[in-house]
This record gives sequence, C-alpha cells and structure tokens, in this order.
Amino acid sequence: MDSNVQKVRKDYQKQELTRSDLPENPIELLESWLIDAAKGDANDYNAMCLSTVDEFGNPSSRIVLLRSVTDKGIRFFTNYRSQKGKEIDANPNVCVNFFWRDLERQVRIVGKASRCTAEVSDDYFASRPRGSQVGAWTSQQSAVNVSPKIEDRVNLTARRFEETESIPRPDFWGGYDIAVESIEFWQGRPSRLHNRWRYQLRNNSKSTWKLDQLDP
Ligand SMILES: Cc1cc2nc3c(=O)[nH]c(=O)nc-3n(C[C@H](O)[C@H](O)[C@H](O)COP(=O)(O)O)c2cc1C
Repeated sequence: MDSNVQKVRKDYQKQELTRSDLPENPIELLESWLIDAAKGDANDYNAMCLSTVDEFGNPSSRIVLLRSVTDKGIRFFTNYRSQKGKEIDANPNVCVNFFWRDLERQVRIVGKASRCTAEVSDDYFASRPRGSQVGAWTSQQSAVNVSPKIEDRVNLTARRFEETESIPRPDFWGGYDIAVESIEFWQGRPSRLHNRWRYQLRNNSKSTWKLDQLDP
C-alpha cells in the first residue's frame, strides 16, 4: 500500500512569532490564538488532544473539547468514570495539544487536572442539549461490551426523565480544570525553522512566568 505519507511536504510560512508578540501572561496569548483559530480554522478549533498517564506510567491520548479558558488554565467536561477520568484521579499530570492547521500553529500545555466545583459542572450540564444530557446519564464511557445496546439504554433513560423538566447532572459527569504549569507556542516557519516559545510557571508562583525560546 502506498499511502504517500513520505512524499507529502509542506513549507510553513504564514506568519512569525517573535519576542515582541509575547505578552507577560501566556493565557492572554492562548486566548488570542483561540480567537484567531475561531476565525481562521473554525472547524472544531476548540478540539484538543488530551494525554493522561495511568498509575503504571502508560500514556493514552484522545480528543476532548475545550469549554473555557480560566485565569489559571483550561477546562473540559467528561465522564469521571471513563478511562481518562480514572487516570486523572490517580495521576493529575496531563498534557494537552492543539493543532490549527490553517494557521500553522501548535500549542502544548502541561499541567495538573482537578475536578471543577459542582456548581461549575451543574451550570455547564444545564446548558447542554437534552439529548446530550440523556447520553451522559446513559453512557458508561469507556466500559466494554455493555449490554443492552446503547440505543436501547438511551431510550430507557429518556423515558425515566420524561416528566423531568430540567435533567440534573449525574455525579459521575463533570468538568476538569487544567492548571497550566508550562505552555509552548509553536508557529510553523519555512525550512522547518519554526518559532517556538515556552512559558513555565516559576516555582512557588501563581502568576510569574519564565520564558524561553526553543530550537525548532
Ligand atoms: C472532536 C471530538 C470531540 C470530543 N469531545 C469530547 C469531550 O469534550 N469530552 C469527552 O469526554 N469526550 C470527547 N470526545 C470523545 C473522546 O475522544 C473519547 O473517545 C472519550 O472521551 C473516551 O475517552 P477515554 O476512554 O480515554 O476516557 C470527543 C471526540 C472527538 C473526536
């Protein structure tokens, strides 16, 4: 099979990322890149690859959706009993990666995940479409060979909540906040001489960052 992957070559040249583009607080730059991404690469621009590590040191990655940027970092929602939920509960160290193809940009975030407050999760759950709320109650996310099949279980859940105007949040579903410890901004450049800048939270500091330029 010739999938052509060896021959595909693209030169990145849309824009530069120089020292003068970098604010003191990297969360500001993340927000501004998200705004650019929403304009320039709108399809799933808030999709991010989340990597977790289990108690034995085995990594796993999957896509989740960024749902907000907070002053300390980023937030997403999931099933707390899923593989990722169990792994985070055992080991809060996570890594997140965004790739915005049309902007030739990548962001890597390393940090610690912790469950959002019940209030935050309740508010977000209440904002979801009813079908997603029923799905959250029904899916035993990441469990294997569950029966009866999911469609039948969804129908049962929908019937259970038929008379309920606003479906409450299940306690096994909610948000995680990832407190950023390190964040790298990558801007593609010609001949693979990309611009890379990494911010690292200084020890014992909640808001001062060490900035380094990384070789491409
Ligand atoms: C574009 C996209 C967005 C997704 N968003 C979420 C999300 O926000 N939360 C979530 O739990 N799963 C989301 N998923 C599904 C996850 O990738 C994954 O299959 C699921 O969460 C189970 O992962 P786990 O078994 O590693 O826990 C999304 C998948 C895709 C492709």
